[in-house]
Amino acid sequence: MAIDENAKVWHNGRLIRWKDATVHVLAHVVNYGSSVFEGIRCYKLPSGPAIFRANEHIQRLLDSAKIYRMDVDYTRDELVAAMVDLIGLNRIWPCYIRPIVLRGYGQVGVNPLNSPIEVFIANYEWGKYLGSDADQGVDVCVSSWTRIAPNTLPAMAKAGANYMNSQLIKMEAILNGYVEGIALDMNGYVSEGSGENLFVVRNGSLLTAPLGNSVLPGITRDSVLQISHDLGIPIVEQMIPREMLYIADEVFFSGTAAEITAVRSVDKISVKNGAVGPITKAIQREFYGVINGTLPDRHNWFTHVPVKQTVSV
Ligand SMILES: Cc1ncc(COP(=O)(O)O)c(C=O)c1O
Repeated sequence: MAIDENAKVWHNGRLIRWKDATVHVLAHVVNYGSSVFEGIRCYKLPSGPAIFRANEHIQRLLDSAKIYRMDVDYTRDELVAAMVDLIGLNRIWPCYIRPIVLRGYGQVGVNPLNSPIEVFIANYEWGKYLGSDADQGVDVCVSSWTRIAPNTLPAMAKAGANYMNSQLIKMEAILNGYVEGIALDMNGYVSEGSGENLFVVRNGSLLTAPLGNSVLPGITRDSVLQISHDLGIPIVEQMIPREMLYIADEVFFSGTAAEITAVRSVDKISVKNGAVGPITKAIQREFYGVINGTLPDRHNWFTHVPVKQTVSV
């Protein structure tokens, strides 16, 4: 990951310097985790930079804010336009875009209602998330940590605080030699990875956990469901018992960071023969075809970033 510290950051409608994009140590967010955010990719298509599913991501950001009673002063269209402008200005693509809504410096104490809502958007260069060998599939474990339970921290909100749970899952996995951990929900059913949704293929059908199993409503998850529908692959949203992971024909993660990454083994039990399976490959072919610009953007997933030509003299 390369950070360009000359890049600008969007803050409450203004562009500020990278080093000025800061919050006070007593800001509400620092003490109580009060932020909601997004992770979005801007790809480099042959036609120029384009943001993947910008509207859906910003809608999820506003939904997350609504769940936490955070009033955002900007509409979805304004925030999408802000991302487009920022990328054009910073001239960094492909890139990762991080919009964040947080409760800033106001009243110190748990009551969040007297701290100002601040909105930041930053973008930076970012490569593959689950490692450069991820094309062959990754080795993962089932975490000893349970995913956040319903009616505790809402899983449908992409809130900073949720990622304390994700960090426990991720650290345990890495320290035990795995690339990622899969969390079970409070009833022991498969939920998701620390930062990805999960799919299982069994007897030709594609299975994924419903939102009620404490999963984030992933934008990539939705893209996988649309691609599978296009390919005529039967989709079943159902509760998945842990042991299904061990007898699955194929397992893969989906996420903005991980994109579509095959899982090669779970708890050292290889998924089938350990090779990336045919349904995963078919979905990857479609997904990577669209994001590389070699296949048409059938579903209008891209918001294109107009690029001003720089004239060298
Ligand atoms: C916990 C969790 N689940 C799932 C996902 C995948 O969501 P998306 O495809 O929208 O990136 C993410 C990534 O944002 C995540 O952090």
